[in-house]
Amino acid sequence: MTDTLTPAAANGGATVADLTLEEKASLTSGASFWTTKAIDRVGIPSIMLTDGPHGVRKQRAGADHLGIGDSVPATCFPPAVALGSSFDPELLERVGVALGQESLAEDVGVLLGPGINIKRSPLCGRNFEYLSEDPIVSGVMGAALVRGLQSQGVGASLKHFAANNQEADRMRVSADIDPRPLREIYLRGFQRVVQDAQPWTVMCSYNRLNGVYTSEDPWLLTTVLRDEWGFEGLVVSDWGAVNERVTGLVAGLDLEMPASGGRTDAQLVDAVRSGDLDESALDLAAQRNLDLVRKVVAGARPDASYDAAAHHALAREVAAASIVLLRNEGGALPLDPGASVAVVGELARTPRYQGAGSSLINPTKLDDALTEIRAIAGDDVPFAAGYALDGTADAALADEAVAAASATGTVLLFLGVPAELESEGFDRDDIELPAPQLELAERVVAANPNTVVVLSNGGVVRLPFADRVSAILEGWLLGQAGGGAVADVLYGRVNPSGRLAESIPNRLEDSPAFLDFPGEHSHVRYGEGLFVGYRWYDARAIDVAFPFGHGLSYTTFGYSDASAEATADGIVVRVSVTNTGDRDGAEVVQVYSALPGSGVVRAPRELKGFAKVFVPAGESRVAEVHVRRDDLAYWDTRADAWVVEGGAYELSIGASSRDLREVVSVEVEGDEVQVPLTMDSSIGELVEHPVAGPIVRQAMGGEGSFMADPAMFKMLASFPIGRLSTFPGSPMGRDDVEQLLQAANAGA
Ligand code: BGC
Repeated sequence: MTDTLTPAAANGGATVADLTLEEKASLTSGASFWTTKAIDRVGIPSIMLTDGPHGVRKQRAGADHLGIGDSVPATCFPPAVALGSSFDPELLERVGVALGQESLAEDVGVLLGPGINIKRSPLCGRNFEYLSEDPIVSGVMGAALVRGLQSQGVGASLKHFAANNQEADRMRVSADIDPRPLREIYLRGFQRVVQDAQPWTVMCSYNRLNGVYTSEDPWLLTTVLRDEWGFEGLVVSDWGAVNERVTGLVAGLDLEMPASGGRTDAQLVDAVRSGDLDESALDLAAQRNLDLVRKVVAGARPDASYDAAAHHALAREVAAASIVLLRNEGGALPLDPGASVAVVGELARTPRYQGAGSSLINPTKLDDALTEIRAIAGDDVPFAAGYALDGTADAALADEAVAAASATGTVLLFLGVPAELESEGFDRDDIELPAPQLELAERVVAANPNTVVVLSNGGVVRLPFADRVSAILEGWLLGQAGGGAVADVLYGRVNPSGRLAESIPNRLEDSPAFLDFPGEHSHVRYGEGLFVGYRWYDARAIDVAFPFGHGLSYTTFGYSDASAEATADGIVVRVSVTNTGDRDGAEVVQVYSALPGSGVVRAPRELKGFAKVFVPAGESRVAEVHVRRDDLAYWDTRADAWVVEGGAYELSIGASSRDLREVVSVEVEGDEVQVPLTMDSSIGELVEHPVAGPIVRQAMGGEGSFMADPAMFKMLASFPIGRLSTFPGSPMGRDDVEQLLQAANAGA
């Protein structure tokens, strides 16, 4: 492919006007599994798009034709589940840069990621590939990755657009979502990445959204994505997501992947010839493909290479920054290198470091925790496998592990979810660790309560032993250098600073989507509405094992002097963070908003911004969090628009959604909502209206009338004015009301 990626093609280049109808159609679908079509006649080269997202998965020539076979070695960075927990956009930008360098070295023009779908249910089989249950975290972190990648001249593909929150029936299921949760939870992160980072491509998802395939939804792909958000790039289908090619193209789908053998290109040509498809729609899609090719050609560097050792080191740094220290009783961690330890659990020796499916990277190198622990604490650190990864119970392995646990100072117990239970393509049945591991954990803790649990899992797991062990490291899936990162954190070479980007519930039954996940008969109703993740647990006052935003450090942080200042484009929150311990460390300051007395349904707390601040031991730093005005807005279903409700916003600043340290209040001026008054408008609504209000009050008798009696007013406030006007003796007749409505709607 590099031969054809010449700067001449990038600069000179053909235009749509140079192409025949057939050529235009052919440009809008793939040539193979991973490449687009070249048009040699006019010098348009082919480009390569490949997975993604946490490494470059470029298939070797001659590998299988399903797209999941052997791929060239590439750095396996931590998957999104870990990246999200770092709460560190700058770090993600650096990962993006490294991914860009590796893509260039492999002649890859577009890397298929990041995936930023919301983790609606802990059961989603692909949660390891997504960042968070919160749209602000997903959006901020997703934008950082895109920025880094594209700074290298390689395109991102923001996926899976949209509402692809489960794997069950993913190619057909309709995610049935009300407008507010759709906008405020499921689209908000996509909107942010598009507006902040302009990904070169957006990948539509497989599923339907409110009954319409996203690959052929003009509202989603054009009205929202382009007209409202200003997306300037190309929309590519998820691999095999196209249902009806012509319908898709008209809706705004520019590139079908992978190849369809020319079959659907012919459909486009026929549709233009028969007059069913306006040729200008095809021209537009072809133009967007040409634009993408030009960007890729301009970014290509045929002589590019990368420093695999440096990228491995970066992968280790990122992994360590993503580990979440969930619990640390009595300062059990960090360990002294000379401390007596025993390592228990097959996962310490055979790491689980990424999820299965299209994102499976062939790593350049693979570290395991056991070797890395021994490198610090000595080759004589005992090890017992304890269980087999295939989930079969093995009494001998367990007995041996319990014996090792009894004979040591600290047990480092590695537990996790085996690869075959978590993958793209299907969901999990539960959030349990395998039974043999849970049994082993009970026996090990009974034998030695000084047990430190290290977890490897792509989706959250239930932790029944949580309050009986001395420490827990949530290691998620940490990529190829995760073993070293775990050792770094265990021995205090790195002070943990990861925070939970998703809540860990006590039971699956407590989770928000429990009752209607994954739906039935190809429909899934998002019945929990806005109440996803911590929004649900907080609104229902449900205890969780570990709340959203939680994560400990080997030092402690104090918060003081919080302030908030309203600016033209939002609110600036400042708080002084003091490192009150004796180690340098980083704190993730989180800002949650509430609006007491709000006229719309809201979660008790909504994350509006965060900042990761490094604070040396004994010192203080001011953390500054910018809350965007846009992020204060709710989606108003009457006006079909974002609206900032006016009022005194309460901003809680803290170390997790349930560890709030400071509260500041700030008055925010609201947007005017233009909702036309009609005969169906209630008296309460009319009274609030700047024009109608005084007239209605006057007509209803002013002071002394029922308007002045609060109970009476409350009763009548919900009465539509049209109905009241027909009542005998009504102070306003039908004609009066009609005149009033006209005047009010005209603003006079
Ligand atoms: C996945 C995408 C991936 C594509 C190409 C699809 O099955 O959903 O995330 O980028 O395959 O491998």
